Amino acid sequence: MSVLKVENLKTFYPVKGGKVVKAVNNLSFTLEENQTLGIVGESGCGKSTLAKTLMALEEKTAGSIFFGGKESAQMSLKERYQYIQMVFQDPLDSLNPRKKAWEIITDPMMINTNASKKECIKKASELMELVGLRTEQIYKYPHMFSGGQRQRLGIARSLVLNPKVLILDEPVSALDVSIQAQILNLLKKLQKEMKLSYIFISHDLSVVNYIADKTLVMYLGKVSEYGHNDQIFNSPYHPYTKTLLKSAHISSSNEIKEFPKLIDTELPSPLNPPSGCFFHTRCPVAKDECSKIIPPVEIKREREVSCLL
Ligand SMILES: Nc1ncnc2c1ncn2[C@@H]1O[C@H](COP(=O)(O)OP(=O)(O)OP(=O)(O)O)[C@@H](O)[C@H]1O
Ligand SMILES: [Mg+2]
Repeated sequence: MSVLKVENLKTFYPVKGGKVVKAVNNLSFTLEENQTLGIVGESGCGKSTLAKTLMALEEKTAGSIFFGGKESAQMSLKERYQYIQMVFQDPLDSLNPRKKAWEIITDPMMINTNASKKECIKKASELMELVGLRTEQIYKYPHMFSGGQRQRLGIARSLVLNPKVLILDEPVSALDVSIQAQILNLLKKLQKEMKLSYIFISHDLSVVNYIADKTLVMYLGKVSEYGHNDQIFNSPYHPYTKTLLKSAHISSSNEIKEFPKLIDTELPSPLNPPSGCFFHTRCPVAKDECSKIIPPVEIKREREVSCLL
């Protein structure tokens, strides 16, 4: 059974003038135990909104979320946070500067359980060790740690309630490349040891190619292409996936290297998305019908794809 199943999820933000931003617009996917699902797409395509909706930090507008077969509406927040936790992009922003490391790590434990201070300190020491920090650092404040160490703290905190699923929203984007690799390897190690499942959000296709089993490519709140990494990275189908791979310079295939560039570099506003296929205004291979017909999500060559061509 999948640990997380999302069906036709929509999260809309009402804004001034009676308009709505359709930040997440009909997404469906599943996450299997011990697997990583990468979510990629340009800034503003709805990645963080998806993460926040899964964490109940934003309310969904429509659709269903199942955590291990149980629908989110049937779960208390406490139950939900024992199942799914989140690691944020900027460790300094997301860690309370006035709390010591042990208090930061065990914050979810203090809120959701009756653990004593002694138990919390013991748990914090164990987790510090697990994520590669020295246990004597438990009395230090976040500013006394380096960027990479702070992200280790954030990861330790996300693990304190023994969740099955972690949502990692750009967890290495704020770090130097050499530190990124250390954190990615830590995440891989933890996944193996603790049978964790990850939703890994990133702008960086090479990072997602390294860490994920499956990848979902988003465009203006919708799925463009979704499948196993081998399909997405080695034989992409959707023109948007191809342009992303081309600009990331990570594909050795001639088809990708020679694929035409985006027509317009500007992402359309999600307040006023284009007609038909949302991507047609920038798509280098669009046909007339692409501006008129909304492409359905179909299975083509073993992956889900939304393209008329
Ligand atoms: N609270 C809000 N109210 C209104 N619109 C919002 C709100 N939060 C996000 N949005 C809009 O929803 C869309 C999706 O935003 P989101 O933060 O989910 O994108 P993202 O893919 O995470 O981008 P980035 O890569 O920059 O982090 C954007 O157009 C954004 O401006
Ligand atoms: Mg974001």
